Amino acid sequence: MKFLTAKETALWEEAYNFLSQCYKELKLENELPQRLEQVQAEIQSSRTYYHTFKELEFGARVAWRNNVRCIGRIYWKTLKIFDARQLSTTEEIYQALSNHLRYATNEGNIRSAITIFRQKMPDEPKGIQIENSQLIRYAVYTQPNGTIVGDPAQSKLTQQCIQLGWKPSQQTNFDILPWLITLPGQPTEMKEAPLSLIKEVPLEHPTFEWWNTLQLKWHAVPVISDMILEIGGIQYTAAPFNGWYMGTEIGSRNLGDQHRYNLLPLIAQKMGLDTSQSFLLWKDRALVELNTSVLYSFQKYQVKINNHHEASDYFIHFEDAEKKQGRTIAADWSWIVPPMSASATAVFHKEYENKTVNPNFYYKTPDNPQKCPFKSSK
Ligand code: ARG
Repeated sequence: MKFLTAKETALWEEAYNFLSQCYKELKLENELPQRLEQVQAEIQSSRTYYHTFKELEFGARVAWRNNVRCIGRIYWKTLKIFDARQLSTTEEIYQALSNHLRYATNEGNIRSAITIFRQKMPDEPKGIQIENSQLIRYAVYTQPNGTIVGDPAQSKLTQQCIQLGWKPSQQTNFDILPWLITLPGQPTEMKEAPLSLIKEVPLEHPTFEWWNTLQLKWHAVPVISDMILEIGGIQYTAAPFNGWYMGTEIGSRNLGDQHRYNLLPLIAQKMGLDTSQSFLLWKDRALVELNTSVLYSFQKYQVKINNHHEASDYFIHFEDAEKKQGRTIAADWSWIVPPMSASATAVFHKEYENKTVNPNFYYKTPDNPQKCPFKSSK
């Protein structure tokens, strides 16, 4: 028998733990001994191993179930897996990403899905990379007079795209950025996002007639594309996944945060509020209207969305369901608790252990292309 290096031993341990959990939960224990033997031999001969589709599906779903920052985990079993491990060119990857968007968007009746590209090989420092943090992101520009147009969170990606020759047509607040795909050892390639597949919701307000003059909108589907999916010691560095929005992600954070679209002062002014003193709670009033607009518009245009009250209730159900299965959940309280009306939601009043177990989704950091469980910004 060949002697395993420290790296291979670590991989084998992760594989062993994952496969044991997988075959037990899927009630396929009788197949486990043979599968373990096979994987051990594979690691010995090739320093890596390959998941079967069933293992991949289970691993991706449990990675979601384990992710401490997600309030929507009750749906973990419904995750649709697109196995794209056999694809090798950027053109093929582009097609798979387009198919993912089409499936997930489903004309507004959003479905959770993940597309999994091939795993990082032992001799590759990074594996396949999608440079965009999400498949749908809006560019940002600083105009000659200093005004900022677009989403300030995307300045790095916007710069990268412009450097690679992207020319935005008119510089609006909502220009969808192209996709940047990097195959191991190759230069980054840029592809225009398939705009016809991208659904957006114009933001309207149930009672304020002037609201339309703000000309706001947001995209229907959040597809996170920069996290590493780790299953049984194997890293899938390109594994974009989506759920659907909770309203506050758009209304409170993306459009409300000072370092994002920073819309509260403008909305308060349009509402005719006195903004001279914070104790008048003008920010709070503007925030409620902005969130109302998001929920109202997504509903009006029949795009699936949750509000923070129901999301919080579902999370409590998830916790109960997990308990029934003999599992305790871990959660990052500061991410689970919604960013508005926190104490009016049930999760605010609970405490959770915050620990990261595998399978899971990890961040990459610029100085560490490998997995990193935490990113400071919420
Ligand atoms: N907060 C991110 C955004 O506003 C999306 C994160 C994932 N959200 C989700 N509901 N699956 O774009």
